[in-house]
Amino acid sequence: MEVAAPPATIRILDASERERIETFFLEELDDVALYWRFFRTMTPLTVRAYVTQMRFGDGCVVFGAFDGERLIGVAELSAIPNSEACAENCPAASACAELGVAVSNQLRHKGLGRALLDYLLRHGWTHGLTRIQLSTLRDNGPMLALAKRLGFEEVRQEPDEIVMHILRPADWPVPIPLRPRTAMAIPPDRPIACTAIVTNIRCK
Ligand SMILES: CC(C)(COP(=O)(O)OP(=O)(O)OC[C@H]1O[C@@H](n2cnc3c(N)ncnc32)[C@H](O)[C@@H]1OP(=O)(O)O)[C@@H](O)C(=O)NCCC(=O)NCCS
Repeated sequence: MEVAAPPATIRILDASERERIETFFLEELDDVALYWRFFRTMTPLTVRAYVTQMRFGDGCVVFGAFDGERLIGVAELSAIPNSEACAENCPAASACAELGVAVSNQLRHKGLGRALLDYLLRHGWTHGLTRIQLSTLRDNGPMLALAKRLGFEEVRQEPDEIVMHILRPADWPVPIPLRPRTAMAIPPDRPIACTAIVTNIRCK
């Protein structure tokens, strides 16, 4: 029997909503879900530290799914500084971002993850991104299945992680540019590979 999707509304969150995001991570996710989301064991203190450093703007966008006033899903999109020069972008893309997503333990398998990521992808493409990547632990079957259904393809494997990406559809309408403010000048002859985890963005 088909399970009905929750009556969720999705919108962009702002910095004034850190407390409800912290509550979401601590009360809606169990330890395994937190581990899958952050790639390490989380405690209330590390969750608070993470939420405190979250950025809202400057290339970072946080999306929330709500059932009434209850936050039931959070997805984050973080533009990767200097990704124009990233070797993995060439030749198809010029600006990339990394995503992270989590849905309330009680509301899995109802299409909420897909709805959040559909919203996030549309936002990214509309705001000038040409490539969006994600990293997931190898044993995170639900994320791998969801990513594949959305059209993500594997880019590379690391010891514990799989990095996947999706490119903006070729027929997407002309976008509004989205640039991270923190971009630094990179000498054009220096090849770089793009590696980013939403908790710790870096280009190396
Ligand atoms: C990964 C994650 C976000 C997926 O969220 P979700 O809301 O369960 O995802 P969806 O419902 O869109 O899709 C998941 C499944 O539900 C199924 N589904 C979707 N709509 C459905 C419906 N109406 N009825 C029944 N099943 C449905 C999908 O087909 C899919 O099936 P499968 O995974 O069993 O093959 C969630 O598992 C999660 O929060 N995990 C912890 C954090 C994490 O791992 N983050 C990823 C690293 S960044």
